[in-house]
Amino acid sequence: MSLLIKNIKQLVTCAGRSRIPRAGKKQSDIGLIENGNIFIEKGKISFAGNISGLKKFLSSNTDTKYDILDASDKVIMPGFVDSHTHFVFAGSRENEYEMRLAGKSYEQIAKAGGGIISTVKALREIPKKALKEQAEDRLEKFVKYGTTTLEGKSGYGLDLGNEIKTLEIMKELNEENRYSLDIVSTFLGAHSVPPGIKKSDYVKEISHNMIPIIAKENLATFIDIFIEKNYFDTEDADLIFTMGKRFGLIPKLHTDQFNSVGGTDVAINHGAVSVDHLEVLSDEDIEKLVAFNKSRENRKIIATVLPGVSYFLDIPYAPARKLIKNNVPVALATDFNPGSCMTENMQMIMSLASLRLKMSAEEIINAVTANAAYALMMEDKVGSIEAGKQADLLIFDMPSYKYLFYNFGVNNLEKVFKKGKVVYSSK
Ligand code: NIG
Ligand code: FE
Repeated sequence: MSLLIKNIKQLVTCAGRSRIPRAGKKQSDIGLIENGNIFIEKGKISFAGNISGLKKFLSSNTDTKYDILDASDKVIMPGFVDSHTHFVFAGSRENEYEMRLAGKSYEQIAKAGGGIISTVKALREIPKKALKEQAEDRLEKFVKYGTTTLEGKSGYGLDLGNEIKTLEIMKELNEENRYSLDIVSTFLGAHSVPPGIKKSDYVKEISHNMIPIIAKENLATFIDIFIEKNYFDTEDADLIFTMGKRFGLIPKLHTDQFNSVGGTDVAINHGAVSVDHLEVLSDEDIEKLVAFNKSRENRKIIATVLPGVSYFLDIPYAPARKLIKNNVPVALATDFNPGSCMTENMQMIMSLASLRLKMSAEEIINAVTANAAYALMMEDKVGSIEAGKQADLLIFDMPSYKYLFYNFGVNNLEKVFKKGKVVYSSK
């Protein structure tokens, strides 16, 4: 049955396909409609707008049987798009969290056998079925806080079989999960060098063995690399991205988390869709991003900022204000993973962006909807409330969208719609 949601106190649409991604001053354009209305048919939005628009729409629409939901004291916005996570993993690392509180750094813990490699051991040991169940269970928390589209990376397998195991789980979950979430897969074979292998041999293994098989089996859309001291460098990235692109995988990257390591140049040379992390991004690299984006008619590079990592590891925050001031479009994501940001809660990330990155409410909302959809090349389907897009909507029981930042640490979400169906309800 179709659905009319009417009298919405504040309808935040983020609409305007041609204006995505939003950068600079336009990152504040959230397409707010007071007293808005939405009509949903077959899982898609067929109308979103004010009352006079609705009257016109209804008079010409053939679908005359529909349910009605009154939202006169509610705020509605697009479902959140979490464009950077590592949600398929085994085990947990609360022991490392304690070590960090006792003064050890992320780097020191990794050197002592903790870090990414400890999760690799756990993932290699667990059977696929159990790993999949754990991953699917995590989806409930994402949905509960408003995420309706989710990216996930491999990178805790670090050998062909276990990378495929991870990517197959995400592919299967995308085809069928109990919340109908869209799940987008990224191959992150270059997350860490596995123990017992020379880095140059592992880079060859990724380039000549893993990439062709993963691409042929259609197991990933994107290819990612962790460019960082003691992990992978720009030369490794050149080899891996060159091969990845040859097989149709689209580059994204982790860079400048702890050290300024030249990832911006790699992103520009390979036309990446996003550069992620950027905690220690230099002014010079911001200028390069600006120049590159200016020169591009088509896809811009999105800066995906992950304030949950800065909070959780107690490291610097990315220069989000400088990026916005310089017209680089910014997205925000959780980076949910067991080592550097153990939260599925996008609202928590939004609160950090407000208080720590000094982003405005409007900038943040675009960063978790339209711009994040663009970072996954899904802006035609999700990330805004407008005719033709999927009916992925969040209904908040609160007086204004600004209240979301003010009333922090609790969940004001009342309902989550994914493809027109209620997938979470607080009552
Ligand atoms: O995005 N930076 C590299 N990878 C993850 C952390 C992975 C882990 O510690 O398990 C990240 O922060
Ligand atoms: Fe990450």
